[in-house]
Amino acid sequence: MRTLRDIPALREVLGNARRRGERIALVPTMGNLHDGHLALVAAARERAEMVVATIFVNPLQFGAGEDLDAYPRTLEEDQSRLEAAGCELLFAPDTSTLYPRGLEAQTRIVVPEVTEGLCGASRPGHFDGVSTVVGMLFNLVQPDLACFGEKDYQQLAVIRRMVTDLHLPIEIVGVPIVRAADGLALSSRNGYLSTEQRASAPCLYATLCRLRDKLESGTDASTSLAHGWADLQAAGLDPDYLKLRTCDLRPVTTSTREAVLLAAVRLGSTRLIDNLTLTLPH
Ligand code: PAF
Repeated sequence: MRTLRDIPALREVLGNARRRGERIALVPTMGNLHDGHLALVAAARERAEMVVATIFVNPLQFGAGEDLDAYPRTLEEDQSRLEAAGCELLFAPDTSTLYPRGLEAQTRIVVPEVTEGLCGASRPGHFDGVSTVVGMLFNLVQPDLACFGEKDYQQLAVIRRMVTDLHLPIEIVGVPIVRAADGLALSSRNGYLSTEQRASAPCLYATLCRLRDKLESGTDASTSLAHGWADLQAAGLDPDYLKLRTCDLRPVTTSTREAVLLAAVRLGSTRLIDNLTLTLPH
């Protein structure tokens, strides 16, 4: 696997692949790779001859006081894992390569509506940073398809909307959440948890599962959500939101059948998110 840091080299290698008629799949990441990321590479591998991963801890998507500086940078281990997973090319640019004029002067992509509420409410500007860097990576790599984890459900919805609105000829593949044996969704941020916090963290998924079962059996949504909120608090998790939405993140109505439960909690200074799809009864 080759690791490239600059744009002209990336364009040259990808141009050669395109001339050979290869399909190109993109897996954008911020590094510190776990099995959830490797599932993205596997999904890409199944669909394309050339798998390109990117590692870039994108400062534009971190708010003031968030974990930009603490975010784990583990390039060498990540390179070995990507290579073993069958990735051909890693693009790992510096911040000055992607944002040569600095962050303030950077042209941005702003996706409306789907960025409002949920994580968008508690992390202002976060999704503008995500759509800007993903839009830039799409433009640099010009992949046929790109793979994103369903754990970041709202992020996936934002990217789908951006691709639709900008008429980008890129297939977006959502890859199911990979969980630890106790149900906790894998995330680079799980590494911030103390032993005690790690022991409480699976309560997030357990609460979503209980809520799904109640909602699927027809229990009133607002009562169930209130109980779920109390369960999270009782386990020492500080809920930011716990919501039931349609699959495209609109408020549910009486005619909604396919829906998604979404939650974000704080455990100390670590923010965890998770979601679960469900089918509401008639
Ligand atoms: O999900 C992530 O790791 C990031 O938000 C992404 C999509 C790589 C953009 O920086």
